[in-house]
Amino acid sequence: MGTVIRGGTVITASDIQRADVLIEGEVVVAVAKHVPAADHKLIDATGCYVIPGGIDPHTHLDMPFGGTVTADDWRTGTTAAAYGGTTSIVDFALHTKGDTLASAIMEWHGKADDKAVIDYSFHVMVGDMNEQVMNEIPHIVEDEGVASFKVFMAYKNNLQVDDETLFRTLRLASDSGALVQVHAENGDVIDVLVKEALAQGHVEPKYHALTRPPEAEGEATARAIRLAEIARAPLYVVHVTCAEAAEAISDARRRGLPVFGETCPQYLVCDYTDYERPGFEAAKYVMSPPLRDKSNQTVLWNKLRSGELSAFGSDQCSFNLKGQKELGLRDFSKIPNGSPTIEHRMMLLYHHGVNEGRISLNRFVALTSTNNAKLFGLFPRKGTVAVGSDADIVIWDPNQELTISAETHHMNVDNNIFEGMKVNGVPRTVLLRGEVIVDKGEFYGTPGSGKFLRAGKIGRNAL
Ligand code: URP
Ligand code: ZN
Ligand code: ZN
Repeated sequence: MGTVIRGGTVITASDIQRADVLIEGEVVVAVAKHVPAADHKLIDATGCYVIPGGIDPHTHLDMPFGGTVTADDWRTGTTAAAYGGTTSIVDFALHTKGDTLASAIMEWHGKADDKAVIDYSFHVMVGDMNEQVMNEIPHIVEDEGVASFKVFMAYKNNLQVDDETLFRTLRLASDSGALVQVHAENGDVIDVLVKEALAQGHVEPKYHALTRPPEAEGEATARAIRLAEIARAPLYVVHVTCAEAAEAISDARRRGLPVFGETCPQYLVCDYTDYERPGFEAAKYVMSPPLRDKSNQTVLWNKLRSGELSAFGSDQCSFNLKGQKELGLRDFSKIPNGSPTIEHRMMLLYHHGVNEGRISLNRFVALTSTNNAKLFGLFPRKGTVAVGSDADIVIWDPNQELTISAETHHMNVDNNIFEGMKVNGVPRTVLLRGEVIVDKGEFYGTPGSGKFLRAGKIGRNAL
């Protein structure tokens, strides 16, 4: 006995068709105008879209950062993701100084194995890029099934690497079929500005944004692109926030370079004025790069539509206001950076993108799922509704409303930066490899049932 999803409109990155979907075991075995009921279980999708489960390419679960640990672990974080229609994540395994990349990956398996309710893969967030670590990269790709490495151009005296290191990493990773991701902000400039602000007694959260100007992101993005060009390597720029960085990526793509940009919901619907909220509430919005002037949002939307930005991640990195963000009560530079975004990533893109006519349904699917699967070596097992692909499927109700709130969200954190925002269009039923894990607000998933996904090699022609 299989499962038939009956009467919905199947949307992929390229097609829209009225079709039934037949699932047997963990995979899709037919997408057809009509699949006979036979003795199959029937799921009615009339009036709904049938889309591939979301793939969030940028999450930080149970990760030590900023003097504390992110509030969501692999059970709560992946449960919230499932409620939001995401059935796979690519999380950052944090490598620390003196350690090997392999041990960071082993540690991350330990965090995820018996808690994940959805499937997952890893990037490594490299804490200390040195000769020994660089030489490990080819083995990590071959033996560990991890093929993407995040390198920092910011966080001076901590995670930041110099240009030599970035250049050598790009060359080596490319030779190994791996993709380098950059956190592109000029850490040297930011360090000077932060010290000056603090010396002048500017300690409030808004100074986080004022000491990390968009030009510092634009400069680092353009520099990383040039280094990748010389290294003949593909490059993925995480969390793009502003015109300066987005234009640098567009320019590279016009020149035919394999440069891919990602943005996140917070940069589309929140802006600099959130730092002017009274009291310490502004700390909720402290993330890096920071929220920008609203004018940048139009630029990001245009590039999401045109394909100049390729991916849409959450950058989920949750901290409680109480006891965690409060570490920076008297010094903005001590506020842990990051916000809870995993649950509403897809709903926000759908509501503000599809409903408001900024992107098509196909583009919505490409940005939330297909492109991310292709970029991180998971396609075609993940990222589409097609014969042979895993039956990770979301039945999306375009007429259901939700008001976002920390009172009702499923993340383990006391704040939500999208508090009070209304979205129209939500995941009604979510299937992971053929099993219903969320249906009409009820959760049916099992901690530990999420599987680790080995990433295939990632080429310059990923997209
Ligand atoms: O503020 C952020 N983005 N926190 C998470 C770490 C990172 O740089 O992605
Ligand atoms: Zn980053
Ligand atoms: Zn991040």
